[in-house]
Amino acid sequence: MTDVEPVLVSASILNADFGRLDRVVHKMERAGADRLHLDVMDGHFVDNITFGPDLVAAFRRLTDMPLDVHLMISEPARYIDRFIAAEPQTITFHVETDEGDERKTHAIAAIHAAGQGAGLAVSPDTPVDAVRPWVDELDLIMVMSVYPGWGGQGFMPETAPKIAQARALLAGAGRGGLVHVDGGVNSKTAELVGAYGIDVCIVGSALFQRGRDASLEVELVKQLAGRGREAFSAGIR
Ligand code: DX5
Ligand code: ZN
Repeated sequence: MTDVEPVLVSASILNADFGRLDRVVHKMERAGADRLHLDVMDGHFVDNITFGPDLVAAFRRLTDMPLDVHLMISEPARYIDRFIAAEPQTITFHVETDEGDERKTHAIAAIHAAGQGAGLAVSPDTPVDAVRPWVDELDLIMVMSVYPGWGGQGFMPETAPKIAQARALLAGAGRGGLVHVDGGVNSKTAELVGAYGIDVCIVGSALFQRGRDASLEVELVKQLAGRGREAFSAGIR
């Protein structure tokens, strides 16, 4: 079997108790999550409102874990400097936003100028090829496996092949970026996303189930996605 990079877990805190952020962060650290995934929604790009750059900065003060900001807002370029100032490791916005290509290119350049990683997300109905114009500038492609806007939705299996497509696109590109998958990922769907070559599993509501041990879920997702990934790397998919 070839040496396969371990699959990472980025914990989405969308379904966590926002009244106890410190406890939430420490719970994810103890559970063995590798990164934190922060879902920013503006009530316009998606039909939900969550939080802004100030809460990202609050997470920055609470933990040294790498922070991945997922912008589900209509004008990411307009607010990019404020999210950059919050010092996350990566900032990802949606390729479907109405801001022109030039403003998307500008936002990605600003993220890089601050030494942070830039990503583009594709919603279920958007082909991965939509990010091709920026592929040499991407540190990650985020494949949405649910329609963005809410945690706790069911994984859409028809989106899984897009993970392998994103991998192929990044493999030939300049920055050797990673593929993240977001939405409905848990110990039941982890092997499937692994089988398409995933690098980072974003896991949300599955980590905040009452009476369920989050560290067991993190461990299972890593193991099962890793098993799928080995099959993918061996070409046995
Ligand atoms: C949905 C968000 C996801 C969500 C994942 O729009 O982008 O990050 O919080 O949560 P689960 O794992 O519950 O689908
Ligand atoms: Zn997300």
